[in-house]
Amino acid sequence: MGFYERKILPWVIDTTCSNKAVRYQRRKVVPLAEGQVLEIGVGSGLNFPFYDEAKVERVFALEPSAEMLEKAKPRIEAVSFPVEPLALDGEQIPLDEKSVDTVLVTYTLCTIPDVIAALEGMRRVLKPGGRLVFCEHGLAPDAGVVRWQNRLNPIWQRIGGGCNLNRDIPALVKQGGFKIETLDTMYLPGPNILHFSNFNYWGTAVPA
Ligand SMILES: C[S@@+](CC[C@H](N)C(=O)[O-])C[C@H]1O[C@@H](n2cnc3c(N)ncnc32)[C@H](O)[C@@H]1O
Repeated sequence: MGFYERKILPWVIDTTCSNKAVRYQRRKVVPLAEGQVLEIGVGSGLNFPFYDEAKVERVFALEPSAEMLEKAKPRIEAVSFPVEPLALDGEQIPLDEKSVDTVLVTYTLCTIPDVIAALEGMRRVLKPGGRLVFCEHGLAPDAGVVRWQNRLNPIWQRIGGGCNLNRDIPALVKQGGFKIETLDTMYLPGPNILHFSNFNYWGTAVPA
């Protein structure tokens, strides 16, 4: 891993993922997490302030980047429930089958290289009645925006630590073995020029 990935990318992700519109999205989904929670791709821990502490028993905080986990530390230390960091890829969830009530994933399905394997793992660890809660950016509904997403994707992947602009999130969630329960979509508020990066999908899904 080079200097950019170790020193600059964590700052870039922390800054771009903490703007007002994204915080507003977090407020819509993170409080849905309950019981034993597995969060995939915790990053710098930006979701921690939004958990409903009365509903959460424990969070397994999976994140492969040591630098991101280090950045997440103060946010982890600020919550009242126990948090167990798991310094692993989302394709290698080390938890037992049917052991968690909620899997939370935000702005990370865009980045995981083998996203289907990761989703299959998320489904494996969910208890019967458990839910996947997600909020992601991805493939836009407008052909003109999609053309830009496809054009920009190679460079975006390089500067964004492997992030893809054009993943069809609901299709991937279904392919990973889930049935979508609720789904909302919109371009986040902001200038139209940012539509290539800010079409959001959020909702819940259960093992199919
Ligand atoms: C854009 S950040 C989002 C972080 C956080 N979920 C949030 O909402 O702020 C994407 C995260 O995915 C992590 N990531 C990269 N490859 C991954 C993988 N194979 N499995 C799980 N997470 C991964 C990155 O290290 C990064 O922290």
